[in-house]
Amino acid sequence: MAGGFTSAVVIHSHSSLLLFLPLFLLLLLLFSPSNATSITSLFSPPVNYLIDCGSSTQTLLQDGRTFRSDRDSSSLLSTDEDIQTSVDSINLNASSSVPPTSLPLFNSARIFTDESTYTFYISKMGRLWVRLYFFPLPHPSYNLTQAVFTVQTDRFVLLHDFSITDNTSFVFKEYLLNVSDSRFSLKFLPKKKSLAFINGIEVVTAPDPLILDTAISVFPPGNFHGIFNYALQVCYRVNVGGPPMAPNRDPLLRSWETDASYNVFPQGSQNVSVSTKIIKYPQNGEVTPLIAPSSVYSSAMVMKDPKVNQPNFNLSWRMNADQSFSYLIRLHFCDIVSQNLSQLYFNVYLNEMMGAASLDLSSETKALATAFYQDFVLNSSAITNGSILVQVGPANLQQGIPNAILNGFEVIKMSNMANSLDGFFSVDGKYKGPNANTLALKVAAAIGLGFSMTAMFLVAVICFRWRQRPHGWESKDSFSSWLLPIQSTHPGSLCSALSKSSSRRSSIFGSRKSRSGYSGYLTPTGIGRFFPFDELRKATNNFVEKAVIGVGGFGKVYLGTLEDGTKVAIKRGNPSSEQGINEFRTEIDMLSKLRHRHLVSLMGFCDENSEMILVYEYMANGPFRSHLYGSNLPPLSWKQRLEICIGSARGLHYLHTGAAQSIIHRDVKTTNILLDENLVAKVADFGLSKANPEKTHVSTAVKGSFGYLDPQYFRSQQLTEKSDVYSFGVVLMEVLCARPVLDPTLPREQVNLADWALQQHRRGMLYKIIDPRIADTIACGSLNKFVEAAEKCLEDNGADRPTMGDVLWNLEYALQLQEAVSKIDTNEDTTANSIALEQANESGEKGDHSGTQATEESDVTDVDSMMLSQIAHFEGR
Ligand SMILES: *[C@@H]1O[C@H](CO)[C@@H](O)[C@H](O)[C@H]1NC(C)=O
Ligand SMILES: *[C@@H]1O[C@H](CO)[C@@H](O)[C@H](O)[C@H]1NC(C)=O
Repeated sequence: MAGGFTSAVVIHSHSSLLLFLPLFLLLLLLFSPSNATSITSLFSPPVNYLIDCGSSTQTLLQDGRTFRSDRDSSSLLSTDEDIQTSVDSINLNASSSVPPTSLPLFNSARIFTDESTYTFYISKMGRLWVRLYFFPLPHPSYNLTQAVFTVQTDRFVLLHDFSITDNTSFVFKEYLLNVSDSRFSLKFLPKKKSLAFINGIEVVTAPDPLILDTAISVFPPGNFHGIFNYALQVCYRVNVGGPPMAPNRDPLLRSWETDASYNVFPQGSQNVSVSTKIIKYPQNGEVTPLIAPSSVYSSAMVMKDPKVNQPNFNLSWRMNADQSFSYLIRLHFCDIVSQNLSQLYFNVYLNEMMGAASLDLSSETKALATAFYQDFVLNSSAITNGSILVQVGPANLQQGIPNAILNGFEVIKMSNMANSLDGFFSVDGKYKGPNANTLALKVAAAIGLGFSMTAMFLVAVICFRWRQRPHGWESKDSFSSWLLPIQSTHPGSLCSALSKSSSRRSSIFGSRKSRSGYSGYLTPTGIGRFFPFDELRKATNNFVEKAVIGVGGFGKVYLGTLEDGTKVAIKRGNPSSEQGINEFRTEIDMLSKLRHRHLVSLMGFCDENSEMILVYEYMANGPFRSHLYGSNLPPLSWKQRLEICIGSARGLHYLHTGAAQSIIHRDVKTTNILLDENLVAKVADFGLSKANPEKTHVSTAVKGSFGYLDPQYFRSQQLTEKSDVYSFGVVLMEVLCARPVLDPTLPREQVNLADWALQQHRRGMLYKIIDPRIADTIACGSLNKFVEAAEKCLEDNGADRPTMGDVLWNLEYALQLQEAVSKIDTNEDTTANSIALEQANESGEKGDHSGTQATEESDVTDVDSMMLSQIAHFEGR
């Protein structure tokens, strides 16, 4: 924490509190809200621009601040015009979120008909408050209620096509922007033939400790890192159970509303308040009056009649929210009701999801009447009906008195992937919403493709994807998320390394977490070791472009060499992509539950400096697809292909059945099957995976890759393991025919491989499209078994498809048939079989099959009889 902002901070940096006790008490007195000048002097901002736009004179507000006219400070404003308007006074009722002392700022406005920019010199970089005041004043020639305009900084869009059509409403917008340049500009861009206007601007330093980089992620559960990278907009700041507070009662000149208009069940709640003088701030300095003044902590809502035997409700507050954004939600707590420590245990819910379970303020603060706050991040996907619901309710424990408390909250919007806080257009005016560039292309391509499903389905899918998945399947396809990995070594020591590293990096949340009772909700991602960012930087030569071995929606994949010479694949995510964060988490979550020879495994990760980096063992032979077509690699023999298919089928079978929960991969394709130096197959990329706890089906928006998508999932959005089976059937056809699953350059009926292969098979002409390089080396029985498996996988109806276990048996059988024939066949020197790779591989591979199948020595008849029961099983599906 950068010292010096406040005396309170100074106290915390000295461990001996006793020495400073008199000073501390003095400060407590100063914090009393009646003493307005002293509370606002707790923090004096190094950057402090206060501008009353369009005013001819400076304006003194009741909160003691003077706003300069922007006529005096012409150097700040670059514009080709000089249009102002003002009225002597306006007398309208401002909404409760407008700071009451700010009304004089609305008396004048500056009007722009063309792009205009205010530029501010920033002497201290870091978070800035940017506060904007708007009111459509009358003007003889310009009608401000018809103004439509955009307001943006160099990086972030604050308002897009913004307008105020109601000439009775004051509008106040408050942002927190992390500025790392000595110049900061605010650009006003009128829409074509329209206007822009502004009544007042503040650009003021916010203290560094105000917003930390980490919060608890409510959904998906875990820790959220990287808040520094977001622009923030404060939407609600509420003093629960207390009075509204004007800026002069807050050291950072924030205004606080009452909770009356958000309280969903006022009958069940009652407000309590104590003297601000008894409110303490913790000695460790984690919470200071800069976080919130004591007048926020000295009042609260609690449950009415808390002594009822069966408390069966929550205290609830509902606020509007824009559901395409994620929100940072700060809750302020202070136990001003308990007589003794550890009497108050309650749960905190955000949008009906557990945020903190059995929160015990006593164990957080070790004292009563002591300020405490907790930050939560609510992912946009968890904001479903356009609102945020904050709830606190008694924990279901036998201890303590059933009650719950909330003293204040702030609801803060986080910028999205377009670096915008309003819509999906970035500062260069480009649409950067989900699937931005690919949408139009897709529709055209899809229709042109003669994709076997109707164009309507495609549009439907595109719509789902538009909502769900910012990076297109196209980029996924080109992306060999190649990486992957080796079996991780010592899970035990890895876990402890992880926890060590997280406590080393601990934010105040990290340290609180271990002390508090709700750590159960912070899913520990117990896998892999923590890699310091520096180590990875060295391993990749500072992430040099030359080291890039793959690029995808998530970010780039680098080949790195660790100090001990181990080669690793390093997947470096783009932290500003929200979707990336989700997939990063999903991948860690999934891989932490899974261990299998045929699944890629993670070596570790790095989330230092808000990086999202996953480290896998390097898979020397890259994606399976590049060994099938589209590269100069020698063709794999039929036996090698079968073995790779068997390996991947094993991996998927394990996913579906081996872990505690059934897991559906959702993106099975040849680029997600990676090969190590011995051509052992490992299934990779769990970014889209989903657990299926009920083992029935999961209802979800359609994700996956075109060409591999299960048509039934497509129609019903009901995801089951059988969707992976379908995709795997497509993989089998791809392996057999060695061509892309979608090839728009081919005649219409051939574009989609799965359809084309099935069609050819029905006509008895499948042999015509088999990879010509190996066609005559495939034993007939083996081919039949293989095609039979592929065909079953591609059944339209999921229930008719085999399980991965069944597929696995059939592939094993196909392999046995091939090997049996090879043994009989003495003219075995086919081109494919002479590939050096296979030779090198031969011995190792045998071990893999022993024990699961008939021995290598079995003759054909034995194999046949052995497999009969399996076939019966298979066909029974
Ligand atoms: C601003 O962002 C940079 C990274 O871009 C970070 O290092 C810095 O700590 C941030 N500062 C604040 C106050 O958020
Ligand atoms: C409080 O709210 C949560 C989430 O909405 C809900 O699961 C829980 O049952 C509620 N508690 C009571 C006592 O109604």
